[in-house]
Amino acid sequence: MRHIHVIGIGTGNPEHLTIQGLQALKATDAVFALDKGDAKAGLIGVRRQICDRYIEGRPYRFVEAADPERDRRPADYGVAVDDWHAARAALYEALIAEHLREDERGAFLVWGDPSLYDSTLRILERVLARGRVGFTYDVIPGITSVQALAAAHRIPLHRIGEPVRITTGRRLRDGLGQEPGATVVMLDGDPRFEGLDPDLTIHWGAYLGTPDELLVAGRLGDVAEEIRRVRAEARARHGWIMDIYLLLKPAP
Ligand SMILES: C[S@@+](CC[C@H](N)C(=O)[O-])C[C@H]1O[C@@H](n2cnc3c(N)ncnc32)[C@H](O)[C@@H]1O
Repeated sequence: MRHIHVIGIGTGNPEHLTIQGLQALKATDAVFALDKGDAKAGLIGVRRQICDRYIEGRPYRFVEAADPERDRRPADYGVAVDDWHAARAALYEALIAEHLREDERGAFLVWGDPSLYDSTLRILERVLARGRVGFTYDVIPGITSVQALAAAHRIPLHRIGEPVRITTGRRLRDGLGQEPGATVVMLDGDPRFEGLDPDLTIHWGAYLGTPDELLVAGRLGDVAEEIRRVRAEARARHGWIMDIYLLLKPAP
């Protein structure tokens, strides 16, 4: 039966790939990479670099496909995501059926780790539920942008014994709540930091793991404007940006 490795590849540095990921990749016949649009072509480039560097002397197929368009301003968020996942399941099914023979191994290279804000595992389950192509799959963990952020700033994510929350920019608008602890914010397309306590400590990072890495840290009230300026300049220069930040409440 076909077998698929879902491999977390880290956040831009080809050396983020684990040795487990490397071994799986070396035994792979077809690598699937979903193109999220021209602006993020650099991300496909990293996947190619990883394959060129680590799959030595063995023929493999690099299968690129355009990710289906997603409705960015839907009336109903849940329905829009479900429609998008259905379109992606149909695409993955077609890619697997067309490019992977019954006795072969494939790999989906997932940015960071598949456990965080990534739908590859949900989509593969959906493909299996459709019942048209059969395969087994396993998951090989990778370095997440959360780990890359902490490592770049040389910090633990939380103070002793405190909880860590990982959330999105969209959810942050609901506030940080009363509980102590650290909050990591991902997928914030326009960080305004509105309504947040200026005494929070922020650790911000963009393009983590790549040669373009940017870092800013400090008291939110002091560095918020700098982060917005650095972010806007970098985004204009590269045409895209991926950034993440940690917010720590003032020590009690
Ligand atoms: C769709 S999520 C994917 C997360 C990924 N699965 C992970 O494990 O990090 C994309 C978000 O991850 C964060 N991210 C991913 N790569 C990053 C990088 N190299 N530098 C900064 N943030 C990154 C950003 O918050 C971005 O909006």
